[in-house]
Amino acid sequence: MKRIGEATSIAHPNIALAKYWGKRAQAGNVPAVPSLSVTLAGMSTTTEVVFDEHLDHDELVLNGVALAASARPHQRAVELLDRVRASARIKARARITSTNDFPTASGLASSASGFAALALAATRAAGLDLPPTEIADLARRSSASAARSVFGGFVELDGGEGASGEARPVAPATALDLRILVCVTTESAKTTSSTDGMALTQSTSPYWDAWLADAPRVHRTMRYALLAGDFARVGELAEHSALAMHACAMAAGVVYVTGATLAALAEVRAMRADGLSAFGTIDAGPHLKCIVRAADVAAARTRLAAVPGVLRTIEAAPGDGARLVETRSTAPRVAVTSEEARP
Ligand code: PMV
Repeated sequence: MKRIGEATSIAHPNIALAKYWGKRAQAGNVPAVPSLSVTLAGMSTTTEVVFDEHLDHDELVLNGVALAASARPHQRAVELLDRVRASARIKARARITSTNDFPTASGLASSASGFAALALAATRAAGLDLPPTEIADLARRSSASAARSVFGGFVELDGGEGASGEARPVAPATALDLRILVCVTTESAKTTSSTDGMALTQSTSPYWDAWLADAPRVHRTMRYALLAGDFARVGELAEHSALAMHACAMAAGVVYVTGATLAALAEVRAMRADGLSAFGTIDAGPHLKCIVRAADVAAARTRLAAVPGVLRTIEAAPGDGARLVETRSTAPRVAVTSEEARP
């Protein structure tokens, strides 16, 4: 067996506090609006990539299961590998082994940690040594939210007219004393993918223009609040961002929330009325995520666990970006400029 290079990386999921929803028409998977997220600690995707000249096709083993070449996750992984091969000027096929230590239906996007880990491991295994911004650019082309998981702490992703889709760190994990409580409301996977939901929203929601006008303002205001360490303002804006995104999507018939999601949100608001600084956010699925301070986790968890339809809660804290754990390449290092490396 002729291995030309291998690398293993770890990345974590992230949750958008200021959401992105919708894509710009141009190629490159650039979001229609800017977003701001927090990368989470605790839950990880570990991905090993081995480029091997004796393989005749790319292989993907995801959570211990070898996927068929026709499976969508396999195709998406091959698209990323093709970009890496073009930049590194290699032809070898690769074996990807990727494992999540958190359940896929946990409401935490495994595509974000998955593509961040894959972009990092694949480039290194191919002999490329790219700066994080270029790794994020590669990850974004597969899943826009994955660009944010390349960095730790609080991260923004550029979007909108004239934006390049660049991800960059805004503040370290310690910038805000924040915890996320994921209220798991179902163990099954979501029915409408975010890509399909976004496409329908953009083409048919009567509120699309209002979303395009509102989201950049929310992102900008949240950035200031975050840098000022204003927990309550970040929380208020996060709840607003999620509700605006879902209102816009719902007007296009795209409904991710269930009764349990809304019951959990009502409990978050009841906590607030009782003086606890708690805020809700919802992604493209039925799980409510509650944003609280570390000192309020126990109280909030007890109340959320009692909400009918909440099956369990998962606690997450801000964490690190994607990183390599092992790398070995026998491929000659390819000297590439940033522009050349851009897939
Ligand atoms: O990039 P995707 O396809 O994982 O879509 C992410 C969509 C939201 O999670 C709802 C919002 C966001 O900014 O992460």
